[in-house]
Amino acid sequence: DAARPTLDDSHDPRRRDFINIAAVSFAGVGAVAIVLPLVNQMNPSADVLAQATTEIDLSKILPGQAIKTSFRKQPLFVRNLTPKEIQEADAVDISTLRDPQTLEERTKAGKKNWLITLGVCTHLGCVPLGAGEGENKGPFGGYFCPCHGSAYDTAARIRKGPAPTNLHVPDYAFNSDTVVTVG
Ligand code: FES
Repeated sequence: DAARPTLDDSHDPRRRDFINIAAVSFAGVGAVAIVLPLVNQMNPSADVLAQATTEIDLSKILPGQAIKTSFRKQPLFVRNLTPKEIQEADAVDISTLRDPQTLEERTKAGKKNWLITLGVCTHLGCVPLGAGEGENKGPFGGYFCPCHGSAYDTAARIRKGPAPTNLHVPDYAFNSDTVVTVG
């Protein structure tokens, strides 16, 4: 009887699809199994990262300059404030600030010119401009976030725009007059 189905149904398109899908899925599982250990090797564990410190040589950062480096995989700004920039920061009535802090509170005793902050806008995490030669420091002379216009002053305090708080100051300590360890 010619109409009777045979055991060999490999010509059946649905069966072929199943075989193809199974083959592709298997290849996918293989790729993930190979890639995951590599990725894990490249990413230090959260514990290791949380304890990582960064040493910064301040000797080449001139007054008025800010550099962008990194700390625990986040941008870090290090700024050597000029006497005029310190004066500008000190002249602000902190009761008018959204996140009231003096420059003193944001720097170390006797080292008011060194302002060290994360370079991460506290609105939605963009990297503000202002750390680097000729970059836009914004209307308050500190940093300016191009994403939605948050403007920070010379103490990296939020002065205008949607960011809720000042740029975050991480833990750090001076090892000497020209070297700090962050973290
Ligand atoms: Fe900076 Fe929105 S992320 S203003």
